[in-house]
Amino acid sequence: MVERIEQIEREAAEQIAAASGSAELEELRVTHLGRKAELTGILRGIAELPADQRGPVGKRGNEARQRLEALISERAAELDSAELESRLASDAVDVTLPGAPAPPVGHPHLISRTRRRIEDIMVGLGYRVLEGPEVELDYYNFTALNHPPGHPARMSQDTFYVAPGSLTQAAMSAARAAADGGGEGGAATPDEELVVLRTHTSPMQVRAMEAQEPPIFVVVPGKVYRRDSDATHSPMFNQVEGLAVAEDITLADLQGTLLEMLRGIFGEGREARMRPHFFPFTEPSVEFDVSCFACDGSGSLADGSRCGLCKGVGWIEVGGAGMVDPNVFGFVADGGYDPDRVQGFAFGMGVERIAMLRYGVPDLRRFLDNDVRMLEQFS
Ligand code: DAH
Repeated sequence: MVERIEQIEREAAEQIAAASGSAELEELRVTHLGRKAELTGILRGIAELPADQRGPVGKRGNEARQRLEALISERAAELDSAELESRLASDAVDVTLPGAPAPPVGHPHLISRTRRRIEDIMVGLGYRVLEGPEVELDYYNFTALNHPPGHPARMSQDTFYVAPGSLTQAAMSAARAAADGGGEGGAATPDEELVVLRTHTSPMQVRAMEAQEPPIFVVVPGKVYRRDSDATHSPMFNQVEGLAVAEDITLADLQGTLLEMLRGIFGEGREARMRPHFFPFTEPSVEFDVSCFACDGSGSLADGSRCGLCKGVGWIEVGGAGMVDPNVFGFVADGGYDPDRVQGFAFGMGVERIAMLRYGVPDLRRFLDNDVRMLEQFS
């Protein structure tokens, strides 16, 4: 029996030494020292042995048990530290590597930046920033801006018409209330049936004058809609409108304001010029240009070649403007806009066009693609 104990001890000791993981070691502990282990059985059966064997078997059995327990806890400690070591090795952090790149932060879209730049300049000149509805009554978009009924801009080729029934009740009554206010005092009554996506920001001229007596100095940035789509036209784009009405405002004030604004946008050395044009709601009307910032207005580049940006002209068209037509004041005469007492100028321009010119973006559709490779260039 003692020999069997020694054999068990030897075999178990070898297996313990060879155990390669703590799970395997735990299995060995159960096999050799657990309740069903052979050694445990021998020790439990001592009482049944002949009297002369009890002493030596008990002694040897307990020694073997203690030795195996000791071997297991030694091996467990070894395996634990080996496992820890390999975990540490695989988790190792090389603190000498460069840190992770800073998480990217967003930035305003180029169109928003351009729009805000214009707002900042105009706020600096004492203007207030106003916004208005994109779904607009025909009355504000055309009628009150002196467009006669058959005016080509009203044609559905150019304008998106909205079925009035598709407006929410709240939107329709808000539009009606506003239009009723504007239609008082013998001015033309708004045609409630005609609702459009505004084709320009100019309708806010009349809404702003309805809301406030002169003097008024406002700029109106916002989205506008036209049935147009190519590299330089998008069905949705942004404009900024300007309106200044007070006593003694002249075309010279318009010229000075445009000059200040264009220098703020395109740089200090720029010049502004106005060319005669026609718009229904201004008289006289002009288009205004900025001197080309690529060739400094000369039309040719340093190497003598023709300037590509202004096509050799030296000037770049930016927008439309003019003196507010007395007929427009007629729609808000009750609000203190007596054309015999006040004058004003208005101007309007496209934000995308300015951003394209300013940053050399060749195709307007790139602003809407949401391609971060394009957008990130202007962070
Ligand atoms: N609303 C015009 C357009 O979209 C631009 C414009 C021209 C605005 C003359 C004005 C103006 O305020 O006076 O083409």
